[in-house]
Formats: sequence, C-alpha cells, structure tokens
Amino acid sequence: MNSSVTDRIIPGRFAGKRAMVTGGSRGIGAAVARRLGAEGALVAIAYRSRGHEAEEIASEIATAGGRAFAVQADIGQPGAIDALFAAWDETATRIAGDDRLDILVNNAGIASAAPLSEIYEHAFDRIFAINTKGPAFVSQQAVRRMTQGGRIVTIGSGAAKQPGALNGAYGMSKAALLAMTRSLAVELGQHGITANVVAPGYTRTDMTAHMLAEPRFVERLEQITALRRIGEPEDIAAVVCFLASDDGGWLTGQWIEATGGYKLVPPV
Ligand SMILES: NC(=O)c1ccc[n+]([C@@H]2O[C@H](COP(=O)([O-])OP(=O)(O)OC[C@H]3O[C@@H](n4cnc5c(N)ncnc54)[C@H](OP(=O)(O)O)[C@@H]3O)[C@@H](O)[C@H]2O)c1
Repeated sequence: MNSSVTDRIIPGRFAGKRAMVTGGSRGIGAAVARRLGAEGALVAIAYRSRGHEAEEIASEIATAGGRAFAVQADIGQPGAIDALFAAWDETATRIAGDDRLDILVNNAGIASAAPLSEIYEHAFDRIFAINTKGPAFVSQQAVRRMTQGGRIVTIGSGAAKQPGALNGAYGMSKAALLAMTRSLAVELGQHGITANVVAPGYTRTDMTAHMLAEPRFVERLEQITALRRIGEPEDIAAVVCFLASDDGGWLTGQWIEATGGYKLVPPV
C-alpha cells in the first residue's frame, strides 16, 4: 500500500462490520480487502487459485490489528458458492459470534480473449458463469445474511458500453450486472440494503498488464483521460469503500464509472 493510500485511511469507518470480497487475492479485490480491513471490517478474502496471496493479505491485515481470513471458491463451479458461504458461516461465527454479513464486494472476474464472432461456446459459458451468474448467486447467499444497512457493490466494466477487439463476451457479461444491480436495489431497498456497480476504466492489474506494458498505448490512454493517468487498484477501492460505508447509503441501483475521466478529453 503506498503512503497516499495510508493517508486516506479512515480509521474505524468499518468497525463492527463484516465483509466478503470475491477475487480478493489480487488486483482491485486485494486493494478493496486491504482498505476494508485497515478501516476495521472483518474481511473474508475469497480467491480461486492464489491461496498464498490471499493468506498474505489476511496476515497483513491481522498484523495491522485487523481481522481477515482467506477462503477458496471457484465461483464458476457448481456448488462452489454454497461451499463459500458454509465456510463464511463457520468462520464468521467462530470469530464474531454469528454469520451476519454487512458488505459484499462482487469483484472476481475474467476477461475474454476472442472476438464475439469467433469465441467458443465453452469459453463464453465460463465468462458468464464467473462474471454474471457468480455475482447473482453470491449476492443471493449474501442477502440471506444481511440486515438493515447491508451493502452490495459489484465491479462492472467500461467494456459493458465500449466494444473492443476481444471483449464482446466480457462486455455482455458485465452489462448484465446493471440489470442485476437495479433489480437487487428494488428488491432489497425495503430492507435498507443498497446495491451498486462500480465500473473501472483501465486499471493496473494482472488483467491489463499485457496491454499496459505497451508504452504507446499507455500514453494514448493518458492523453484521453481527464486526470491524465492510468487507474490504480486503490483508486477503485476508494470508490467501492465509499459505497460500502454508511455515507454511501443514499446511492442505490447506480452504475458508477470510476475512470478518472476516460475519453473526456476532446480530440485535437
Ligand atoms: N483491471 C482493469 O482494468 C479492469 C477494468 C474494468 C473492470 N475490471 C474488473 O475488475 C475486477 C477485478 O479485476 P482485476 O483487474 O483486479 O483482475 P485480476 O488482477 O486478474 O484478479 C482477478 C481476481 O478474480 C479472481 N477470480 C478469477 N476467476 C475466479 C473464479 N472463477 N472464482 C473466484 N475468483 C476468481 C482471481 O483469483 P486468483 O487470484 O485466485 O486467481 C483474482 O483474485 C474484475 O471483475 C474485472 O472484470 C478490471
């Protein structure tokens, strides 16, 4: 965590809250988990395969005086979400006395790597299983454990609206999260639970490393972005944590573009 993020920590903002972050082992999810943990939440860091990274983040949070644990679940596999929540119930009850969950961050996701006109059906199905069906059924389990003030924040993508050479299936899978979120907002609003989407622009993570390794591409992105830089995972975490906080309570059913003003700069 760099010093500017440390400076922005709001001590105790999530004291007494319990959170789950899917895809918390790396990238944006890791930044969200670190910030929630640093601000007092008990955090479940769900991962698919990088258990070592997830355990390291949990122990960083614990070393700083917080509470976190890692839990494995490939949310694209049948039965995995039930197992994830069985693990939550057991561990949250042991650590905090019951299985209440206050904050869900649906972050786990994978990109597509073929044009929509050519993608294999099994690859398309896997993208939808992880990016779309996963958040829907993780949310379903989460809301059973939520009370008044619960928060669901789902990570979308600018690709939902902006086609690219290889991101057709990915964009479709993310666009569906708007419909999911607006439905959840309506269904859960009467219980004081909010649901929102944060849609990042290009953000420096493993997912974009191959593109952002190309200096000319980075320069072009910076030129057309109002804040003239590429996003960092901590930039997205700040927006997610605002929505997850009490101060985010009057926003629901929204699709929030967290891009630093990507494509706002007019062409010369
Ligand atoms: N980076 C960007 O520019 C950008 C832009 C827009 C939207 N997003 C979205 O932001 C979210 C996070 O992306 P990122 O860039 O941080 O990606 P990343 O660095 O590739 O990390 C992906 C995370 O998702 C987890 N994951 C992947 N498949 C999973 C599965 N089947 N079950 C459970 N967890 C799974 C990974 O777990 P393991 O570590 O265990 O593999 C990892 O923690 C994604 O939803 C992505 O679509 C990213």
